[in-house]
Amino acid sequence: MDDLFPDVLSAAPAQRADPVLVAAAEAVAGAPPEARKNVGAPMDRVDGRLKVTGGARYAAEFSAPRLAHGVLLQSTIASGRIRDLDTAAAERAPGVIAVITHRNIPAMPRPSVPPAGESLPLLSPEIHYSGQNVAVVIAETFEQAEHAAALIRIDYVVQKPAVILDEHLGDAFVPNTGNRPAASKRGDFAAAAASAPVKVAQTYRTPIEHHNPMEPHGTVATWSGSKLTVYDATQGVGNTAQNLAEQFGLLPEDVHVIDPFVGGGFGCKGQSWPHTALTAVAAKVAGRPVRLSLTRRQMFSSNGHRPQTRQANVLAAANDGKLVALQHQAHAHTSRNDEFMEPTGAPASLLYSCANVDVGHRLVRLNTGSPTYMRAPGESSGSFGLETAMDELAVAAAIDPIELRLRNYAEIDESSGHRWSSKSLRECYARGAELFGWSRRDPRPRSMREGRWAIGMGMATAAYPANFRPASAKALMYADGHIEIRCGTQDLGTGTYTILTQIAAEELKVDPSKVRVMLGDSRLPNAPTSGGSCSATSAGSAVQAAARALRMRVTQYASGDEASPLWNVKVSDIDGRDGWLFSKQDPSKAVAYTEILARYGKSVVEQEAGAKPGIERETSAEGGSEGAEKKSSDSARSMHGFGAQFCELRVDADLGTIRVVRWVGAFALGKQLNVKTLRSQLQGGVVWGIGMALQEESLIDPRHGRFVNTNLAEYHVPVNADVPPIEIALIDEQDSLVSPLGAKGAGEIGITGAAAAIGNAVYHATGKRVRELPITLDKLL
Ligand code: MOS
Repeated sequence: MDDLFPDVLSAAPAQRADPVLVAAAEAVAGAPPEARKNVGAPMDRVDGRLKVTGGARYAAEFSAPRLAHGVLLQSTIASGRIRDLDTAAAERAPGVIAVITHRNIPAMPRPSVPPAGESLPLLSPEIHYSGQNVAVVIAETFEQAEHAAALIRIDYVVQKPAVILDEHLGDAFVPNTGNRPAASKRGDFAAAAASAPVKVAQTYRTPIEHHNPMEPHGTVATWSGSKLTVYDATQGVGNTAQNLAEQFGLLPEDVHVIDPFVGGGFGCKGQSWPHTALTAVAAKVAGRPVRLSLTRRQMFSSNGHRPQTRQANVLAAANDGKLVALQHQAHAHTSRNDEFMEPTGAPASLLYSCANVDVGHRLVRLNTGSPTYMRAPGESSGSFGLETAMDELAVAAAIDPIELRLRNYAEIDESSGHRWSSKSLRECYARGAELFGWSRRDPRPRSMREGRWAIGMGMATAAYPANFRPASAKALMYADGHIEIRCGTQDLGTGTYTILTQIAAEELKVDPSKVRVMLGDSRLPNAPTSGGSCSATSAGSAVQAAARALRMRVTQYASGDEASPLWNVKVSDIDGRDGWLFSKQDPSKAVAYTEILARYGKSVVEQEAGAKPGIERETSAEGGSEGAEKKSSDSARSMHGFGAQFCELRVDADLGTIRVVRWVGAFALGKQLNVKTLRSQLQGGVVWGIGMALQEESLIDPRHGRFVNTNLAEYHVPVNADVPPIEIALIDEQDSLVSPLGAKGAGEIGITGAAAAIGNAVYHATGKRVRELPITLDKLL
C-alpha cells in the first residue's frame, strides 16, 4: 500500500493524540482515584487482558464430555425440491454417528418458532434458497463429519430462481410490519411537489451485504434428561433460551444458554437461526453433546444479510432550499417465507421539516435466505438515499449542504408530532464543520486538486433511534467488600462489561477493581437482546438501579446499628468513598462495607432491581424508528441520537481509485458513559460506513441464485490501510427522559450518513454522482 499510494499517505494528517481522550484524561486527573474510573471516564476495557491473552472463551470453544461434532450440508440449488437423497455412504463412513435429513429428523413441538424467517429446515424437501440446510452429519471428529457430508448424494428438481430485485418489482407487496407501519404520510406530496421550483428525483440503490463478524456462529448443545444447556454465539442469551424452550416444548428454566463473550454481531446474532436448534436436535439424536460451527462460507447462507434496496426519492424545494415535498418509496427483497422489512424510510420521515411527505416500503420475494437486521438497519441504507439526495438538492439550489440542512431543521419529530427528548444536531454541524475545516472547501466540484489526486469533501447527517427496553440486574456485596453484578445482557465486544463495572463502582462508591460483572447467561436477571443499540442504556440503567438499591440497603444497616459509627445519621446524610460510608457532616464518622457486613454476620447482601421505559416512551420499535411513537400524548417524546459526518477523500484522476484520508464525526448522545469505548463504537460505525460506501457487496450468480464471494478475500471489508484518522467530537447533552442513565445508545449511529458523506465527497472530487453502492472505481470511469 505504501508503494502504491505514497502521496496519499504522506498527505494524510499525522496521527495525533485524540483531543477527546486528552480532555477526558485532564478532566479526571485531579479527581480521587476511584472517580478517575467513574462513569464517563475513559477506563480501559476490563476484559481487554482476557481477550488479548486468549483467556476469553467464545461459544464454540466450550467443550463437554464425549463431545461429538456436527457439520451442516447445504443446498446447492436456490429453488426446487429434493427428489432423492442417498446417505448410505455417509452413514457407513468412519466415525459417523448419525446423518439427519428431512426424512428422519425427530418431530419437535414447534419447529418454526424462531423468527428467523425460514421454518426450521429439514422439515420438507422444498428448497427456497441456495445454502438452505439439507442435512446434519454427526461424527466423532469434525474431519470425519466433513468427509461424510461430502458423500451425501442429492438429486434435485431444479427450478429457475428469482434473485434479481429489478426483475420482480411488479410482484412487490406492502409488508405487514406490526408496530412499524410501512407507510408514513403527511400533507399532500403530489400537489406540493408539482409546483416546486427546485426538484431532485433520483433512484438510489444499496446491495446485499453480509455481517461477517470475526467470530462465526457456533453452538455446543448438551442434554441432561429434558434439560438443555447450550453455548451459543448470540446477541441475546435470554431470547435464544426462550426460542429453544418453545421449539422443544421445554420449561423455560430447563434451558440454559451461555455466551460470556461475543466476537461481534452486527445484527446477524440478533435472532436464533436454525443451526442452533439443529445442534440441539443433533445432540438429542446422538445422545451426547454436539458442537457445530458455521464455516465462513456458511456465514453467507445461514444467518441473514442486509436486504438490497431500491429507493426512489423526490425532494422538492422552494428557491431558498426549503423542502416543500419529500417522497421516499423503497423496494427491498425478502425471502420466500418471511416478511423482513428494514425502515429505510425512517430518515426521510423525520430528519427534516417538510409539510408534505410520502414514505412507503414494498417487499419483493426472492430465492434468498431471510434478510435481517444489520448495522443500523434501515437508517444506514435509507440515509444513503436521503442524504445523497440532499446533497443533490444543495447543488441544484446552489446552497451550502450544511446551510441547506439548517434551513430544513426539524424542531420536532414531524412524523409523530412529538417533541424530541433532546436534539443537539445544530451543535454537531457546527462543531464538526469547525474541526473538519469545512470553510476551506471550495463548493465547486472538481475544484480541489493535489497532483493527480482530486480532493473531495462531503458531509451528511447521522441519526439513530435512542432505544431503551426493560432490563433487570442484581447487585451483590460480599463480606470481603467485593461487588458482583449479574445481568443477562451480553458484551458484543463493544464495552458492556466495562461500562457496567463503572456504573456499579460509581453507585456503590468502590474502586472498579472491586467489581466483578457476570453477563452472557440466560439464568441471570433478564435483559434485552443486544440490538438496536439498546444495551448500554437498558442494562446500564438496570445495573444502576440494582447498585443504588444495594448501597441503600447497606447504608440502612449502618445507620440503624447502635454500634455503628453512623448510628442514627440520616441515610441522606451518608455518602461513600472507596468502600467506606461516612457522614457528610462529620467525615470522621466512617465505617467500611466489610465491617458492616461482619457486624450483621452476612456473607453476602444482594438486591435485584429493574429499569423500564417511562411514559415519555409509550411504544418501542425494534431497531428502526419509523412509527415508533404512534400513540399521542403530551408527555410522549421522540428519542434519537444525532450527529454530523464529514469526509475528505482523494480520487486518482486517471484510475478512479478512492482513498478516504480524513474523517470528523460530531455526535450528541446524551450522557457519555465511557468516552473511550464510546469513541471506539463511533469510530467502528464510521469504518462500517467506509465498507458500505466503497467495498461491501454480496454478489449473486443469477443462474444458480448463489452468493459467489463467500469469503473474506472476495467480500471486502475495510482493513487498517483503508481507514484514515477518524476524529470523534462528543457534544455535551442533557436528556433526563431518554433513559434513567441519561445516555443514548452509540452502537449503530456511527454508520448512519457515513456512506452518503463519502458519496457526496466523491461527487465533490469528480463531478460524478454515484447513486448505487458500493462506489467502486468502475462506476467512476
Ligand atoms: Mo443491531 S443490527 O440492531 O444488532
